[in-house]
Amino acid sequence: MRPLKEFLHEMPKAELHVHLEGCITAEILLPLEASRGEPANPEAFQELYRFKDFYGFLEAYGEVCRRIRRPEDFRTVAGMVLVSLARQKVRYVEMLFTPAVFFRLGLDVDEVFHSIFDAAEQARKSWDIRCSLILDNVRQWKPSFAEKTLDWALKFRPWVVGIGMGGDENGRRAKEYESIFREARAQGLRTVAHAGEIGGPRSIWDALEYLSAERIGHGVTALEDPVLVKHLLRHRITLDVSPTSNVRTGVVPSLARHPLPRLLEAGLAVTINSDDPAFFQTSLSEEYWNLSEQFHFPAERIVQLARQAFDSSFLADEEKAVLLKEFDQYVQMKNPGSKDS
Ligand code: ADE
Ligand code: ZN
Repeated sequence: MRPLKEFLHEMPKAELHVHLEGCITAEILLPLEASRGEPANPEAFQELYRFKDFYGFLEAYGEVCRRIRRPEDFRTVAGMVLVSLARQKVRYVEMLFTPAVFFRLGLDVDEVFHSIFDAAEQARKSWDIRCSLILDNVRQWKPSFAEKTLDWALKFRPWVVGIGMGGDENGRRAKEYESIFREARAQGLRTVAHAGEIGGPRSIWDALEYLSAERIGHGVTALEDPVLVKHLLRHRITLDVSPTSNVRTGVVPSLARHPLPRLLEAGLAVTINSDDPAFFQTSLSEEYWNLSEQFHFPAERIVQLARQAFDSSFLADEEKAVLLKEFDQYVQMKNPGSKDS
């Protein structure tokens, strides 16, 4: 492995925007179906993951979710996902998970949560990886589902640290969920929202105003509005950017034309994420490596991006300090500036 690639792979990482459901690969799903006595054709399975655009992606994502039928399957799913993250030296993950999807599919949601927590507990013991959940909402669905999601979030603290908003950004207006997100903040939960992914700057403003979003998922259209950029800078709002996701859903035409370098030049706080690695054929390690290949970022810039993820996390200050110290020690010890890049 090239020295920089190895440096990036071994670097302690935090991931702030990855969906549990978006990590369900065919390799995870096939044995689950087989264990239910439903042997599947692996080639047909690959079809599940093919899509042309953002809306095709949402459909594929829904179809994969519908194939999880038993609450206990989440122990397997979360366990496999956390092993894969631990192998990439992810030390802390804020995992998005959308319980309303499985509630609507008729699963026992409490049991689903307990299965995920079992796996997270096990992963912490075995691989020293920490996992918190952010419960995501679906913008196409009535606010009553978001109310339920808030109840689950409150019930399952401290595993759950916040709530989010995902799905079709052009679905319902953020304002419809305002009171739910305000209540979440009042109760001490943290808030994030997908915005400025397929929507423009107006959608980011709405996420800030009505969803009290502390971090924005994607936000890649922010530069279209200089007043918004000033606001994001002044309030230190982080953009959780997922470059490969944006290319695969057609939000940007290519990685070369991704606005990431310009977001950084504007001084914005940015983190790098994988979003839905099973659908976008990526991983957090690959995301960092791709940036180095595509934009020829010096190692220091990638280190700064990776450090930002710890900094922008919802960890308590003391826990953040411990992980940041570990991160800084790794960088100092490996001194990437002296490596081939
Ligand atoms: N749910 C999972 N991934 C998503 C994305 N990129 N945008 C909106 N909702 C999502
Ligand atoms: Zn997402």
